[in-house]
Amino acid sequence: MGDEEEKELRVRKIKDGTVIDHIPAGYALAVLRILGITGREGNVISIAINAPSQKLVRKDIVKVEGKELKQREVDKIALVAPRATINIIKDYNVYEKQRVKLPTTIVNVVQCANPSCVSNSSEPLKPIFHVINEEPLQIQCHFCRRIMEREDIVKQF
Ligand code: CTP
Ligand code: ZN
Repeated sequence: MGDEEEKELRVRKIKDGTVIDHIPAGYALAVLRILGITGREGNVISIAINAPSQKLVRKDIVKVEGKELKQREVDKIALVAPRATINIIKDYNVYEKQRVKLPTTIVNVVQCANPSCVSNSSEPLKPIFHVINEEPLQIQCHFCRRIMEREDIVKQF
């Protein structure tokens, strides 16, 4: 159990579901948007924003009960939370812990911000980006070479 949480359990443990931990402070709501969670689905959701952490100065945590994430959702989370861990909880135990991983190429996830980019034309071209730097995140459009950063990407989710 997380040391900081032992002293002060900010958000209670869950029985079954997914804990997305080590989200950079202030990005929990972006993670919820990626997951398409509005709160009206009925799952119990717990969120900690700007929680004290040892590894990061502050971090966010999202706990979604009764849901497992799809790989596409995990890949999107990597774009806003490159150090996040996805913990699958079964009967109160961490059944599986996966660290998100940035792919080297991002296909059909992020739209190019350049309106005249060929990937934004009426032709059916999937947007493709190459990761050129992980921290701070910089991805480059395969077609027009436009560089996009985390904030540009978060706006789309
Ligand atoms: N967690 C939870 N409910 C459980 C078990 C764990 O909400 N039944 C949460 C913990 O509070 C923590 C995350 O899931 O935020 C991962 O749990 P654990 O691996 O036990 O914590 P750490 O060892 O601190 O994880 P890490 O090394 O990834 O920081
Ligand atoms: Zn482009």
